[in-house]
Amino acid sequence: MSDGYKPRVVVLTGAGISAESGLKTFRDSNGLWENHRVEDVATPEGFAADPDRVYRFYNERRAQLQTPGVEPNAAHRALAELEQALGEHFLLVTQNVDDLHERAGSNKVLHMHGELLSARCCQSGQAIRWLESFDETTECRCCIPGAKVRPDIVWFGEVPMHMDDIIIALAQADVFIAIGTSGQVYPAANFVAMAADGGARTIEINLEPSQQNSLFDENIVGEAGKVLPDFVSHFIRDYC
Ligand code: APR
Repeated sequence: MSDGYKPRVVVLTGAGISAESGLKTFRDSNGLWENHRVEDVATPEGFAADPDRVYRFYNERRAQLQTPGVEPNAAHRALAELEQALGEHFLLVTQNVDDLHERAGSNKVLHMHGELLSARCCQSGQAIRWLESFDETTECRCCIPGAKVRPDIVWFGEVPMHMDDIIIALAQADVFIAIGTSGQVYPAANFVAMAADGGARTIEINLEPSQQNSLFDENIVGEAGKVLPDFVSHFIRDYC
């Protein structure tokens, strides 16, 4: 990279980056999918079959996220620092539905799987910031008369959000970094190949090598909260 040129960096985060903040991942031991069936709580069919069970699942996760002590960790803060250093050459894409990136100071976060702290009107599709619990008696605040609201979460079988922007960013990226994701869910699992096709250097930072680790140019193994701050400070020193 020539002098003065700031590399274009795309970061993808998964549940592993929030693990040290006390939030469960999905597929680690005692993960969310150990205690809930995906079909029941993360599909449109599950919502249609038993909306109450789905409302309870996301109300519990929202309440856990709002529990005192659940705070951004050093990995979230390191990514906010990297955004500061790279400006518009940085894009953070997350599969996570928590708000820990924003609370750590990240300004532009693309939540491709939606957000726990918003609800979606079942009639207009509009997303509404929603901090408290809700159920099927709750009416949206955007329609008259109010329609039902559903969790603003992208379920299996639904189209992830922001894909147009993500595809363009991956094609233009100089560096792609995947942090704390098992790489088992598409289309996010394909991002490393898409970035590599565009000529990006690809780096995986994970507690243990993911199923996709061989697809990456570099693998950094360790807890994100411990390895990412160092990685970011060296990256800023060398490239910004
Ligand atoms: N630091 C870094 N990585 C970690 C840490 C940590 N402290 N703790 C766990 N990990 C890693 C695990 O090794 C695992 O590879 O985080 C990954 C978590 O994987 P998953 O539980 O599968 O979570 P994720 O990859 O985000 O799942 C993707 O699947 O169910 C859907 O919509 C859901 O967004 C989710 C998607």
